[in-house]
Amino acid sequence: MNDFDWAAMADMLEHEGEAHSPYVRQALDELKDLAPRRVLDIGSGPGVAACRMAALFPGAEVTAVDGSPELLARAEERARRLGVRLRTQAAEFPAGLAGLGPADLVWSGQVVHHVGDQQDALNRLAGLLAPGGVLAIVEGGLPARRLPRDLGFGRPGLETRLDAMMADRFDRMRAELPGSVALVEDWPAMLRAAGLTEVRARTFLVDHPAPVPDGVRQSVRGSLERCRTGLAEVLDAEDAATLDRLLDPADPAGVDRRPDLFLLTAKTVHFGRRPGS
Ligand SMILES: C[S@@+](CC[C@H](N)C(=O)[O-])C[C@H]1O[C@@H](n2cnc3c(N)ncnc32)[C@H](O)[C@@H]1O
Repeated sequence: MNDFDWAAMADMLEHEGEAHSPYVRQALDELKDLAPRRVLDIGSGPGVAACRMAALFPGAEVTAVDGSPELLARAEERARRLGVRLRTQAAEFPAGLAGLGPADLVWSGQVVHHVGDQQDALNRLAGLLAPGGVLAIVEGGLPARRLPRDLGFGRPGLETRLDAMMADRFDRMRAELPGSVALVEDWPAMLRAAGLTEVRARTFLVDHPAPVPDGVRQSVRGSLERCRTGLAEVLDAEDAATLDRLLDPADPAGVDRRPDLFLLTAKTVHFGRRPGS
């Protein structure tokens, strides 16, 4: 696994997964002809999508697979809480994928970009499919908007600058991954190169207008905390101070208390089918 401390991000991943989660249902609605018997969620994290699939396909064996035992424990806890049937399996990608198939549906959300050789990862994921099975990969989409352009303090346009800094950080993260391979990140073309057919991409809007419920507010807090810590070395003093103010629980203009907070983003799911019946 790369250098992220995934277990430490459990709360953030769960809040974010929940805030985004209607898109999983919308994406699965695209697969009306699929009645999967075996489903794998590769890189499930705390299991938000896996539990949703377990609820949608109660007759299927759904397995959440991840490199972090702590996150898999969260997934199990979540499944118990929601009363759905979920198996878990610890595995490191890409090597640990061998032997997990065959599955009728393989879902992998925001994981492939954490593997050095993304085409190889897709080839291996496609290799887990039973004939006629579907691979669904969540990659791309749009960065989130959470706050007004002018917050009433600091320099306007903070989120645009954060996006640019996060994009640089992402680039460095990818370059430093073991076995990192540069390629054109054309996901549909990559799915076709993995031998899949009926390839298509669908994008789903995640739209939580103000006022947001608590869970969405927590998700926004988590994403801004990640910017504050992950970008500590590159933020200028003014933007650092603005983020500190936004993250101060006592500040009425902070994200815990301001009424104008929202969450607007888009998630793209790329589908491909393994030929066969
Ligand atoms: C960004 S999170 C995505 C979680 C979830 N799929 C979602 O969409 O919210 C990435 C997940 O992939 C797992 N992961 C990343 N790289 C991995 C690797 N090389 N081997 C195993 N798991 C890995 C992490 O533990 C984490 O749970």
